Formats: sequence, C-alpha cells, structure tokens
Amino acid sequence: MEDKPLRSRQWFGKKGKDGFIYRAWMKNQGIPAHQLQGKPVIGICNTWSELTPCNAHFRELAQSVKNGIYEAGGYPVEFPVMSLGETLVKPTAMLYRNLVSMDVEESIRANPLDGVVLLCGCDKTTPALVMGACSVNIPTIVVSGGAMLTGKYRGRDIGTSDIWRFFADHQTGQMNDEDLYTAEACMARSQGHCAVMGTASTMACMVESLGLSLAENAAIPAADSRRKVLAHLSGNRIVDMVRKDLKPSDILTRQAFENAITVNAAIGGSTNFIIHLLAIAGRIGIDLNMDDFNTSARKIPLLANLQPSGKYFMEDFYYAGGLPALMKELHEQLNSDAITVSGHPISRNYENSECFNRDLIAPVDNPFNPTAGITVLKGNLCQNGAVIKPSAASTALMRHTGKAVVFENIEDFNHRINDPALDVDKDSVLVLKNAGPKGYPGMPEVGNMLIPKKLADQGVTDMVRISDGRMSGTGFGTVVLHVSPEAAIGGTLAIVQDGDMIKLDVPAGTLHLEVSDEEIAERKSKLVLNNNISKRGYTHLYQTHVEQAHLGADLDFLKGSSGSEVLRDSH
Ligand code: FES
Ligand code: MG
Repeated sequence: MEDKPLRSRQWFGKKGKDGFIYRAWMKNQGIPAHQLQGKPVIGICNTWSELTPCNAHFRELAQSVKNGIYEAGGYPVEFPVMSLGETLVKPTAMLYRNLVSMDVEESIRANPLDGVVLLCGCDKTTPALVMGACSVNIPTIVVSGGAMLTGKYRGRDIGTSDIWRFFADHQTGQMNDEDLYTAEACMARSQGHCAVMGTASTMACMVESLGLSLAENAAIPAADSRRKVLAHLSGNRIVDMVRKDLKPSDILTRQAFENAITVNAAIGGSTNFIIHLLAIAGRIGIDLNMDDFNTSARKIPLLANLQPSGKYFMEDFYYAGGLPALMKELHEQLNSDAITVSGHPISRNYENSECFNRDLIAPVDNPFNPTAGITVLKGNLCQNGAVIKPSAASTALMRHTGKAVVFENIEDFNHRINDPALDVDKDSVLVLKNAGPKGYPGMPEVGNMLIPKKLADQGVTDMVRISDGRMSGTGFGTVVLHVSPEAAIGGTLAIVQDGDMIKLDVPAGTLHLEVSDEEIAERKSKLVLNNNISKRGYTHLYQTHVEQAHLGADLDFLKGSSGSEVLRDSH
C-alpha cells in the first residue's frame, strides 16, 4: 500500500533556512530529531479550560490520546483553541461557536499537521471543532469527554434537567433557598458534561452515529477509566487514518447524515442538534435542509428512556449497552454500510453489542414512546421553519390554539412575566421576540420560558411557548423554537400582537398566526426594525454575516472548505 506523502514534510522535511526554522524551535521542547523525521504529526485540538468545567479534565484525556499516538508511531502535538462553556459564557456560548470554528480551521491549516484529534465536551465545543476540521479536511477523529456521574440529592438521582424542576418548585415554595444550595453541590459531582441527553450528550451521539469517533464514544462516563482507554485507542487509530488518508469527506456522506438524524430521533436528542448538523453539512458540502429531518426521522420511535424525555441518565445508558446497543435496534433504518473512522462499515460498531437494560433501551417493536425526534413546523409564522421536540412536550398541547401574550425581548419577559396583572391564562401562548441569531445576538437558550407564577401556583406546568431562540437540550415543555425568519430581520414573529390567535398543530407540522395575509402585510409595512448591530469586533462580524437558524446559523462566508494547502512559507 502506497502511503501518501505527509503534509508535515512541507515543514519538517524542508532543507535550508526554512527547514532549520521549522525544526529548531520545536527542539526546545526536548523533541528528539527522529520525531521530526517523517512520523505522522497529529494535532490534539484541546478545548481544555477551567472556565469550561465540562472540559476541565481534558489535559488528562489528551495524555491518553498522546500515549496512543506514540504507540502507533506518530508524533503528537497538543494545541489549545478557544473553549466554550455553556454555564459561564455571556450572552450565550452560541454567539461564539462560529468564532471557535474559525480558530480550529485556521490552527489546523496553518500548522504542520497530518491528522487531528478533536477533544470535545460541553455543547458548542463539538460542533465548533467538527465544523472547523471539515473546512480543512485532513484525517480527523473525535474523542468526547464523557458525561458526569449521575447527581445524587437526598436519595434521588438528579441531573441538569432538574434545574428547571427545582426552579418551578422554588417558585411554588416546595423548595427553599437552602434546598437549592444543597442540590447545587449534589448535581455536578464529577468531571464531565451534563449527565442527561442534553446537547453535549446529543453531540457525542452525533459524532458516533456520523462515524467520526470510535464506537462507544457517546456514553462512557468521564470518570470511567474506559474513557481513557477510548482516548488511547483513538490516538492509535488516527495514525492509521493518516496512513490511509481517510478524511472527513470520506466519512461524512449523505448516508452518514441520515444515520445521525435517525439516531437522534431514537435517543430523544436535543433540538440544538438540528442547527449544528446543518452547519456541519454546510462545511463538508452535503446538501441538507430542515425537511430532511422530518423525512429521515418520521418513522423512528423513541427508544431511549433518558432525561429530559424519560427518566435515566447517561451513566445508566453506558451500563445498558450505550449507543451501539441502541443502534443495533435501528439496524433496518440505518445506512449500515456507511464508513466510519475505523475504516469499516458502521454496522461493525454495533453488530455484536448487547442490551443490558430493556427499560432504558427499548426494542424498536415496543418503543419507549412512538413519538420521537424533532418535528419541523411550517406556516405563516415561520415560513422557513421552526422546531419542536414532541417527546419532551405535553401530549395535550400538541394541537392547541390560544391567545398570544407577547414579549418584545427577554428583558420585557423578565420584567412582566410574574406581574399579577398580566393578562394570561393556561391556554395562552407565550411569544418571545428578538432571541434569534442576529437579534439577541447569538440565539440564547431562553425559549423554555418560565410559566407565570400565578399559573404555576394553580398547578400549571406547561404552556405553548414560541420564540426565535433556542432551549437547552436539557429543557422540556411544549416549546416552539428557532422560528425563522427571526423577529429582528422582520419575520412574521415581529408583528405578532397581544390577543392574536396562534394555532399549533404538531401532527400536521404547522404553526399558524390566525391573522389575514393583508393584515400581516399591513403590519409589516409599518414595522420599524430594531437595528441593534454592534459597531465593532467579532459581534459586528457575527451580526452582519450570520445566517438564519434554518440554515444552521453559520457565518455566510464560512460555508464550504478551503482545503489544507498553504503554498507560502513564513520567512
Ligand atoms: Fe457543559 Fe451542560 S453545561 S454540557
Ligand atoms: Mg446548552
């Protein structure tokens, strides 16, 4: 087998002044000369940061990857990229996903790398790294950081989805401040990302079902030593991938994307999946659109009994057999010959796996819930689409018509939602504007708005809520998200008024504002757009180039790939 010449030789293999410069400074790290004499150079793209608690264990994980790379005859080089934690970053980590993708893309291309291992964990770190790597397209493998151990609070299993319950209970007096403070210490009790099927776990399942990671990557807990074994084996594997020149574009075919959509439905994955997968497809040049999510996932039932759609946690999922056991159930629905980073068909990932807990991974002929996936809605309120996750919503509200109670922005919502005089009842539809990509900016996770206190006191736990924002993958409720076009660019959402009737019909896939076309046109003609565009810096770049949610909210000029070639030297 003829190996392709290594890309890194364009640096370390050079003669004369350039080669001297490229090698000499590396040697200050104690690198013996033979490391630079033709071994595959593997970058470990690390999102380690103490400001991203979900990824704070990644230096240890990187060491395991390095061990595997050395063992396979490669030369590992770890490098940092901007990291994004969901919990601390304001106004929302989503604002910076595209910025990180640029950091990753340029770092890979500019450096003497033959292959790259992406260390991904907290929500945005996965799509950002995959997007960036796709735009260079050298051999790439993903190692996810793994979920936290299940939280334990006063004899109860808890995880991130309980935050929403805790605050509902606090609002109605069933929990006091002291209880909350105790729960806070009980929830995040080990390294790793959110322990439910939130966005981080959804992303880990996405990379495994796309074929971008080794089997079992999705569910091994962060604290389980087998996570390090997987990292080590991924280090082994990337060296081979370089030798075979197995690139993301060989793996990320249309079939791979369909597999990811099918699996996401069966696991009850986050609504954020849709935005990130569309953005990744845009980078690798696969024509994917919102309708594909309805088509590919229509007949897929919910198999995983995991929070927020069910009761178990990611740790339990691993012990039940993990993603391979679930994918085995879906064999008939999957494109089983899609190639993965292993070089083998994806069926190899799951054909010998076993399920150890049928209450957690249901068989396809007796699913946990026949309704699954993300339903894409269309209608005059969202011409380009909106999304809802039926498995996390209330059955009774799947077909609902109600009077709009409108909030112009999140401040307006926070200010008035608990006003006893607010004209709202359990059948009202809460509408939040200006939480979209351009309007907020960055499309924050505010779509699962709190229920007004006076209704919560009466025992109301769910209402139809509509916005152009997102919600945390750990959230739940009858929440319509990602309305496109967003209010800030003059979408129909912008002209909704208090008292308008809104009709949601999830089975029919529609969302309709019961106002005549003439009246909508009339209101739009009078609309003054709130032109809140930042004057400088990255936010300016973002707001002037971000695409709408239905296209993946990438920056328009980042679509596609610029390849890996760099022709000029630096000195
Ligand atoms: Fe990082 Fe949930 S906050 S995964
Ligand atoms: Mg999140």
